[in-house]
Amino acid sequence: MIAKTQQLKAAFDEKLSAVQASAEIDAIRIEFMGKKGAVAALMTELKNVPNEQKKEVGQLINELKQHIEASMQAKLAELKKAEEEALINATESYDESLPMLTQEGSYHPITLVQRELEDIFTSMGFHIEDYSEITDDFNCFEALNIPKHHPARDMQDTYYLSSGQLLKTHTSAAQNTIMKKYGAPVRAIFPGRCFRNEKIDACHENTFFQMEGLMIDEGISISNLIYFMKTMLSEVFKRDIKVRLRPGFFPFVEPGFELDIQCLICNGDGCPSCKNSGWLELCPCGMIHPNVLKYGGIDTEKYTGFAFGLGLTRLAMMKYGIKDIRVFNEGNLKALSQFNDK
Ligand code: DAH
Repeated sequence: MIAKTQQLKAAFDEKLSAVQASAEIDAIRIEFMGKKGAVAALMTELKNVPNEQKKEVGQLINELKQHIEASMQAKLAELKKAEEEALINATESYDESLPMLTQEGSYHPITLVQRELEDIFTSMGFHIEDYSEITDDFNCFEALNIPKHHPARDMQDTYYLSSGQLLKTHTSAAQNTIMKKYGAPVRAIFPGRCFRNEKIDACHENTFFQMEGLMIDEGISISNLIYFMKTMLSEVFKRDIKVRLRPGFFPFVEPGFELDIQCLICNGDGCPSCKNSGWLELCPCGMIHPNVLKYGGIDTEKYTGFAFGLGLTRLAMMKYGIKDIRVFNEGNLKALSQFNDK
């Protein structure tokens, strides 16, 4: 029995040293340690060993078991590490002899719409600001009159970082910073990528673009807001489009509106892109709430202002007749490169 145990150990060591891939370890485990494996067979034989030898042989078998488990674990770790390294090297290596790609790149449809809007707004005296995708609770919610536990937060669940920061759910998150940076009067637009916990379908994405704008000055009223929105939309679509204003609730504006445009894909008949309503919410807007101005250090006795949060992704869908929002993030160049000459 003692010799048998030693032979088994030698057989195991030989097999293990021949293993080249982590996937092979399982077969060895079954062969030696499985229910019907070699070690189990030894244990059965132990019954026949004379009593005075049982202790010694039993101990030997136990040591063998420990040896097998520990060796397999060490080998597995070693192989896994090597396999990971090989994978990294394989992805990093490239073939220098391949011909150069000569096809020119193209702009993403969102970039095209964004640039067009930037031109329109800069021609109306707005300047462009750029803000980080990472923000914090104060800027994204508190400073916008959305205190903790306010139900408006439910619609804007997002991705939180371990630092307590978060990925911004709307471009409004930069309003406070801009007010503090420039004071009043100010006209600014700030486009950006936004993130929300969304169930993805033809008209919802967890990553999308908005363009926020605000204008603060003495005597700004709803008429100014309507004028700027109409001018912007007629320039973007270069045709007559139907719009409607509905009251809308956003804690950071009072009064607040939803500016809808008639769906340009179905001309108001109803289709999946407009959830069969014929209308698309495109630009929520309103007069900036005095609390928000105060948070931004603006004198509310002297100044008023409007703000809007244009859905850039939606606008691109309308402008280019893109029926499914998922196209924007899929990285399918065939789909994305068609819009440059339009
Ligand atoms: N931040 C809002 C959202 O994403 C949209 C919005 C509404 C922006 C009204 C505004 C506004 O500036 O005035 O849901």
